[in-house]
Amino acid sequence: MNNIIYTSDVTSITAKQLTGFFVGWPTPPSPETLRQLLHKSDCRVLAIDEDENAVVGFITALTDGVLFGYISSLEVRPAHQNLGIGKQLVTRMLAELDHLYAIDLVCDPDIQPFYERCGLRPCSAMIVRRRDSLNPG
Ligand SMILES: CC(C)(COP(=O)(O)OP(=O)(O)OC[C@H]1O[C@@H](n2cnc3c(N)ncnc32)[C@H](O)[C@@H]1OP(=O)(O)O)[C@@H](O)C(=O)NCCC(=O)NCCS
Repeated sequence: MNNIIYTSDVTSITAKQLTGFFVGWPTPPSPETLRQLLHKSDCRVLAIDEDENAVVGFITALTDGVLFGYISSLEVRPAHQNLGIGKQLVTRMLAELDHLYAIDLVCDPDIQPFYERCGLRPCSAMIVRRRDSLNPG
């Protein structure tokens, strides 16, 4: 495996380093949209493949900084999956949010075993999705 480093610093990350994500989305957000998402999230951790000079995984969270945190996105590029990167990203984000009472996220049932391996437990959720708000840019 190539050398993977983890960072929360997005200041010098370009859209060009953020390709290959949102796999399977009918209208995938553009790399530039992902760049903005990373900047505007309260917390983020990136996994960077130093040899490829590319971001190969990311996790973001939103928080009030008092009691509640919400893990809003997590993805590892397909070629880098099953190498422990996703678990590293979740573990690092949970550590960053360690002072909070509640850390929540929403996921499909088939991903629950992954999150259970990361120390989370199942719960139910209610959601709204506005697909027409996605801008492929
Ligand atoms: C889900 C995802 C982030 C996992 O990342 P990953 O880097 O492949 O996962 P890891 O290699 O860190 O796996 C950690 C552990 O979870 C297990 N695991 C990984 N994906 C799993 C899955 N879909 N179901 C069950 N277990 C899974 C691994 O086997 C590993 O087990 P171990 O600790 O016993 O060795 C990645 O598959 C992904 O990006 N999927 C597409 C986007 C997505 O579904 N994001 C989540 C949105 S809620």
